[in-house]
Amino acid sequence: MVDIKINSEECIKCGHCVMVCPSKILHQEKIGHTVEVKNPQNCILCGHCVGVCPKGAVLHSEFPTEKVHKIDYSAMPTPEQVLLLCQKRRSNRSFTKKPIAQGDMQMILSAAHTAPTASNEQGVSFTVVKNPEELLWVRKYTVSSFEKVYNLLNNFLVRPLIKTFAPALYAYIPRFARLLSAEKKGSDVILRGATSLLLIHTPENSRFGRDDANLAYQNASLMAESLGVSQVYMGFVMTAVRRDKKHLFERHFGIKGSVQCVMALGMPAFRFENVVDKKDISVKEI
Ligand SMILES: Cc1cc2nc3c(=O)[nH]c(=O)nc-3n(C[C@H](O)[C@H](O)[C@H](O)COP(=O)(O)O)c2cc1C
Repeated sequence: MVDIKINSEECIKCGHCVMVCPSKILHQEKIGHTVEVKNPQNCILCGHCVGVCPKGAVLHSEFPTEKVHKIDYSAMPTPEQVLLLCQKRRSNRSFTKKPIAQGDMQMILSAAHTAPTASNEQGVSFTVVKNPEELLWVRKYTVSSFEKVYNLLNNFLVRPLIKTFAPALYAYIPRFARLLSAEKKGSDVILRGATSLLLIHTPENSRFGRDDANLAYQNASLMAESLGVSQVYMGFVMTAVRRDKKHLFERHFGIKGSVQCVMALGMPAFRFENVVDKKDISVKEI
């Protein structure tokens, strides 16, 4: 049972905790009045009340002092630095065989773990795959899934129907053919020679699981960029995972729940020299 108390000797009654609480657990008639705690069982454990208090007056059973760390605002990156990092983050598929340093992987995981989650569920978990045999298994698993789709699309009865009713899907046939032929010749067009895979998973029926996992991915990708580690989103692998109704992927890796997102990582052979503009931004103000 969550226990939340206000230390009345320290509380300066600023009301910040009242204003940030998403569950409306903290109450105050007006600023300067005593803060009261009502229905603490509704707490979603976001820690906002503890994070915002300038006096350490919110005593929350889930956030003892060792879990609360002062923010050094002078160490924050500037907006220009943040934008530079966002612009510099690219999908670099030029991996070398050099493994990612353990400390770097730890930083990438820590960044991913701080991403927001719906209702503060914090249900996102991670599996790091480094074993070359397991990486090969992921490649084969993905290729075999694409082979099944390709054979179906290429079926002489199905093909004319797809050409007429799903031309966008039809356009994929030559792409699938190229992918399968390259993999058959031993070229790694799926993982691109990445030395690690980060599998991001959530409990099976998590309503916002995919969203939560993708936000974790984005945090991880920005951290990877700042460390000089390359990464690419593994859409091909995810397509295979989502098509797999028997959940062989999760079962193979002993994952309870659903893999929502896969990131390929490795050390880059070279870095990008230029930031290249994306399409013109489309913004509407209403
Ligand atoms: C949902 C998603 C799926 C993707 N799938 C793949 C993939 O399977 N293989 C790959 O090489 N790149 C994949 N990418 C990377 C995109 O091709 C890349 O993000 C895009 O070309 C823009 O380049 P940038 O990431 O350098 O900005 C994927 C990206 C996203 C967001």
